[in-house]
Amino acid sequence: MNNLTIAARNKLFHLFYANILRPIYFRRDPEEVHNTMTRVGEFLGRFAITRKITSLSFSFTHPTLEQNLLGIYFPNPVGLAAGFDKDALLTDILPCVGFGFAEVGSITGEPCPGNPKPRLWRLKESRALVVYYGLKNEGCEKIADRLRSKKFKIPLGTSIAKTNSPVTVETEAGINDYLRAFCQLVDIGDYFTINISCPNAFGGEPFTEPDRLDRLLSAIDAISTKKPIFLKMSPDLSEKQIDAILQVCENHRIHGFICGNLTKKRGAPKIYDKMVPEKGGLSGKPTEELSNAQIRFIYRKTGAKYIIIGCGGIFSAADAYTKIKAGASLLQLITGMIFEGPQLIGEINRGLVQFLKRDGFHNIREARGTEK
Ligand SMILES: Cc1cc2nc3c(=O)[nH]c(=O)nc-3n(C[C@H](O)[C@H](O)[C@H](O)COP(=O)(O)O)c2cc1C
Repeated sequence: MNNLTIAARNKLFHLFYANILRPIYFRRDPEEVHNTMTRVGEFLGRFAITRKITSLSFSFTHPTLEQNLLGIYFPNPVGLAAGFDKDALLTDILPCVGFGFAEVGSITGEPCPGNPKPRLWRLKESRALVVYYGLKNEGCEKIADRLRSKKFKIPLGTSIAKTNSPVTVETEAGINDYLRAFCQLVDIGDYFTINISCPNAFGGEPFTEPDRLDRLLSAIDAISTKKPIFLKMSPDLSEKQIDAILQVCENHRIHGFICGNLTKKRGAPKIYDKMVPEKGGLSGKPTEELSNAQIRFIYRKTGAKYIIIGCGGIFSAADAYTKIKAGASLLQLITGMIFEGPQLIGEINRGLVQFLKRDGFHNIREARGTEK
């Protein structure tokens, strides 16, 4: 398909999504819609014909977007962030939606039902979600069994976190819980993410504290794996806290950072809704500036030493390009796709090719960190 046809296809699907699908979805309970979308995605991924139709509807490829990073080939930089495919049920369909990689989980040592409902809300004015799932997932053993025999068309990240339970609050128990998931998933997929920034679990985010993080990463260093390891950061960290984390990571096997997770700040930028639930972390536009500032800070401090995955509030190719120019090599999203529709992934990739060409870059590496 040529560029004009793809642009028309995406425009058409956007109109359909904005005028028909989104009004229907947004009238229903957000968690119910999430479950329905997961069932639909699982069904579409099961058959060659439905995978083909999905690809024809959404995919976009271009050599300018390809990258080899940490020994992994990424066909494009737009990935699915952790939390949408919690139990790794969608790995067959996600490549057909146009993603360049996908992260499943977060996966914990023990199965976890998550926090009591309601635990997902939309902030329509702010283009955000309030998430209080509390790491709901089927646990590392069941998810590892599901994935073990599969072949993945795009790089797969496995995000691990500590089980949301009073039992894992003590540091040693928390580390053992991470290790359990790490060992189960050690040879499954292409990279690990260690999620130290879930805002909705028992005991808060203890592993953002340098000594505890050092102990956790030392325990992980002792396990051999070929998979590169990313650390998922809270966007609410101060520069001093980020500095301390960077210092700890110097001594451990960390290859990159995901900037970042949900924000707990009720005073975050771009919150326009009058009613914001007290519980939970915010995604989408309120996280965007926090994420960009963190990308910029880490890139300026460390240059090309680490791979940075920019995540938070990407709703357009311009949003994605801003993160690349701040220092990200890869991108992740969820909320933009929910508000704008699944054609957004191809549309971001198509727009990125145009921005790179306009600015005289041959690839993403050349554009990375070039903002003035
Ligand atoms: C419904 C939902 C569930 C999430 N669950 C997780 C999770 O389990 N682990 C994690 O690291 N991040 C989780 N996140 C955070 C996202 O991965 C991402 O960091 C955040 O939403 C910002 O990106 P976005 O604005 O594109 O949504 C979740 C986000 C949403 C919206």
